[in-house]
Amino acid sequence: MKILVINGPNLNLLGKREKDIYGSKTLENINKQMTRVAKEKNAELDFFQSNHEGEIVDKLGQAEKSYAAVVINPAAYTHTSVAIRDAIASINIPVIEVHISNIYQREEFRHKSLIAPVAKGQVSGFGEYSYILGLLAAIYTIENK
Ligand code: DQA
Repeated sequence: MKILVINGPNLNLLGKREKDIYGSKTLENINKQMTRVAKEKNAELDFFQSNHEGEIVDKLGQAEKSYAAVVINPAAYTHTSVAIRDAIASINIPVIEVHISNIYQREEFRHKSLIAPVAKGQVSGFGEYSYILGLLAAIYTIENK
């Protein structure tokens, strides 16, 4: 079972970026933790991070060929990207949306996710653990298809 994990803009800066909101773990730390959990569940993960909308759209468009599900933190594109939303709507594998912070407790412009209506589900507000919950949700969804 292969799962693709996509991280959007500025998430490469985790660990030094707004630590009070996003915590002190780096993206590499989080990816390692996810890989450990995936192994226990016999899942294999690939990771992709980009600050560029089109690259994320390209990656999503190809995901169906190689992966059973996608876990994505679209970061700021959550609130702006019709292109990423449409890319997710165009593929026939489950996509789980994750956020480190609880986007509904923050500024009003973060309350709206363009991704949520086309995602299988959303995990928001559990810090780095949102990624683990998103991964478990992806595995559960694949296994209970
Ligand atoms: C985020 C929330 C977004 O609003 C923000 O733009 C991010 C990170 C999160 O993980 O909490 O970059 O997706």
